[in-house]
Amino acid sequence: MSEGVSQPDRPAQMEGDGGDLFSKFDSVIAMREGLLSKGVEDPFNLVMEKVLSPTRAICNGRDTILLGTYNYMGMTFDPDVVAAGEQALRDFGSGTTGSRVLNGTYQGHKEVEQALMDFYAMDHAMVFSTGYQANLGIISTIAGKGDYVVLDIDSHASIWDGCKLGDAEIVPFKHNDIEAMEKRLRRIPEGAGKLVVLEGVYSMLGDVAPLAEMVKVAKRYGAMVLVDEAHSMGFIGENGRGVVESAGVIDDVDFIIGTFSKSVGTVGGFCVSNHPKFEIMRLVCRPYVFTASLPPSVVATACTSIRKLMTTGHNKRAHLWENSKALHKGLKDLGFQLGTEEPESAIIAVIMPDLEQGAAMWEALIKGGLYVNLARPPATPANMTLLRCSLCAEHSAEEVGEILAIFERAGKAVGII
Ligand SMILES: Cc1ncc(COP(=O)(O)O)c(C=O)c1O
Repeated sequence: MSEGVSQPDRPAQMEGDGGDLFSKFDSVIAMREGLLSKGVEDPFNLVMEKVLSPTRAICNGRDTILLGTYNYMGMTFDPDVVAAGEQALRDFGSGTTGSRVLNGTYQGHKEVEQALMDFYAMDHAMVFSTGYQANLGIISTIAGKGDYVVLDIDSHASIWDGCKLGDAEIVPFKHNDIEAMEKRLRRIPEGAGKLVVLEGVYSMLGDVAPLAEMVKVAKRYGAMVLVDEAHSMGFIGENGRGVVESAGVIDDVDFIIGTFSKSVGTVGGFCVSNHPKFEIMRLVCRPYVFTASLPPSVVATACTSIRKLMTTGHNKRAHLWENSKALHKGLKDLGFQLGTEEPESAIIAVIMPDLEQGAAMWEALIKGGLYVNLARPPATPANMTLLRCSLCAEHSAEEVGEILAIFERAGKAVGII
């Protein structure tokens, strides 16, 4: 699974399990075999044989509506985006074969960084090969020995791994709990460096963080603030800058982390900042220095996509909100239990009673022509099994109707509703 709240599957080493280093994965192997032995299609190994559009693909031989792709703004088949990638492939070749610092900075990398600076109206932008590496690099580099990272317990795996890679003290607090966060900040010794790490939208339940209050509290304690806006870029905020924008705190946060793998529609990660010394990160941040840079075609598609989101995002945002509201209401009316009371983002999580019924429901949906994500512990909070739906601005109102009809048929067949 690419996604993950808190730590990924990494069971503790068992005593006396011999020399086979793989024995630590036995519980995960048993879970997977248990699922497959019931004859269900493998929910973690779906192959899209052909992708027809941002919202449809042929999966396991069936025409399928895609509702689990994070392709929020539907940019993957935008003709200008595709043309920019093709042109860059012809003009610059298939790859950079090197690190940004030595031989891997091309014109396209500078152009996409300028597009990000324009999109966020910020002074600095640094592009990484993935969003995972952006979190890994920025968190582990800026929070060093003697510093403290205060983070939400439901943070994405890349945030946790960034903490692990660095030498700072790690202080988690209860999900979206402002008081718990403040309590942790209050206990940190006077004078120590502090970084508060938050997300705009939490991807498992699709809930939004109370950033207006949290950022205010963090600043009161002298902390720097990093917000991961992977699931809100393009969609939330007047200009699509994320929850930091809709909450009115974009000028108070020190770093925004984002990805090209969702609303931008390709692959890559970034950090934007107004910190006057930010550019030094290009020399000291190991996950930036010691890896090859993104291919020219990828940065060209990302640059075109970001610039198009700046001009056409408004209409797409309005339609995506309509989709999100319609799906949330429709599922609630059908009797499904959802992750949020109201639609808060483009993610709508349907809570399943357990993994077995979740897998059965997932299979009934895929056989009915609908792809969603099956998510399970430890990727999910509170040991929940979830069917996570991520909407796209390119889903038509009719498709949302079709999605609801498939959910109704599957839910009744499996006995969930
Ligand atoms: C909150 C969050 N941060 C970072 C990432 C990593 O992004 P990328 O796919 O670019 O590695 C993800 C990906 O799912 C995410 O959900």
